[in-house]
Amino acid sequence: MTAPARIALASLPTPLAFAPRLSEELGLMIWLKRDDLTGVGLGGNKARAVEFHMGACGEAGADVFVTGGGPRSNWVLAAAAATAARGIDCELVLFGDRPPAGTSGVDLLDRLDNLRVRFTGSPVRASVDPLLDRVEACLREEGRRPYMVGRGGAGPVGALGYVAAVDEIDHQAQGAGVRFEAMWLAAGSCGTMAGLVAGYRRRTGGPRVVGAAVHRPVEECQRRIEDISEASLDILEVAHRYPVRWQVTDHLDPDPLEVDAAARLMASTEGVFLDPEYGSCALADLIRQAGEVRGPVLFLVTGGTLNLFHGSSAA
Ligand SMILES: Cc1ncc(COP(=O)(O)O)c(C=O)c1O
Repeated sequence: MTAPARIALASLPTPLAFAPRLSEELGLMIWLKRDDLTGVGLGGNKARAVEFHMGACGEAGADVFVTGGGPRSNWVLAAAAATAARGIDCELVLFGDRPPAGTSGVDLLDRLDNLRVRFTGSPVRASVDPLLDRVEACLREEGRRPYMVGRGGAGPVGALGYVAAVDEIDHQAQGAGVRFEAMWLAAGSCGTMAGLVAGYRRRTGGPRVVGAAVHRPVEECQRRIEDISEASLDILEVAHRYPVRWQVTDHLDPDPLEVDAAARLMASTEGVFLDPEYGSCALADLIRQAGEVRGPVLFLVTGGTLNLFHGSSAA
C-alpha cells in the first residue's frame, strides 16, 4: 500500500502554547498542543486521522464512508463532518441506544443530509464491529462501493495524521526554542499514540511519549501501538527507524476524584476544559508522575467536546 493523499480539512497547525499557571502549580514546564482546535466537526485529534482516510476513500473510488464508535466520540464527529464537507455519503454505527431528541449532542448528527446513523442497542463498545460488517456487506449487495474504517478510525492510515503532526510539533518547538523531554496524552484505540511513536521513529532525540490507557488493558495498547506504528512506517517506506522511548499507563479504572481534580486544575489555571474520559485522565497521569519529569512537557489536548457535557461514554 502507498500513502494516500491527505485531504486538507483541519485548521493546522494547531496552537502550541506555554501553560504558565499550570506549570507553576505542578513545578514543571508544560506546553499545550491544542488539538481540541482542529476544527472538523468538534472532532479534536481525529481530524488528523480523517484527512488521510478521506484521501484513501477517494483513491479507492468509494462512494460511501462506513465507520462507527461512541455516540459522542471525536472520531464519529470528525467522520460525519468531513464526509459532509466533501459531499460523500456516510453510514455510522454507534453503540448504545439513540438518546431522546433534545437531550444530547447526538442531535448534531441529524443535521447532516449525507448521514445515516444506526445504534447497536448495546452499551458494549465492541457491539459496533459486527454491525459495521453487516452494513458494509449490505451496501456491497446494493451495488455501492463502501470504504470501511473500524471503530475509532485507528489503523496505519489514520495514524499517518500524527506522523505528520510530529513534523508540525517539531517545527513549532524549534520556533519557540523548546525541546520536550516528554509528551503526555490519552490512549483509547491507540491510533494517535501510534502515529506519534511512528513520527518520532523517523528522527533521533524525540521526547518520551506517555499514554494513559483509558479503554484497553496496557498490554493490548502496547501491541496496538507497536503494530500500527510499524505499519504506518511501512506505508511511508521508512527504511531507518530510530528507537523511541514510550510507555502506556493503566487508567482503565480511574479514581473519579483524581480525574475531577485534574480537570479543575487545568480549567482554573489555563481556562482549558478537559473531557472526563480522556484528557482529564491523561493530566491525572502526568500529575502522578510529575516527580520523575526532568524537562519541558508537551500535553496533547485532544478534544472530546461533546463528552464535556455528559460524563463518560465515548469511544
Ligand atoms: C477526546 C479524545 N482524546 C483522546 C482519544 C484517544 O485517541 P485514540 O483513539 O487515537 O487513542 C480519543 C479517542 O476517541 C478522544 O475522543
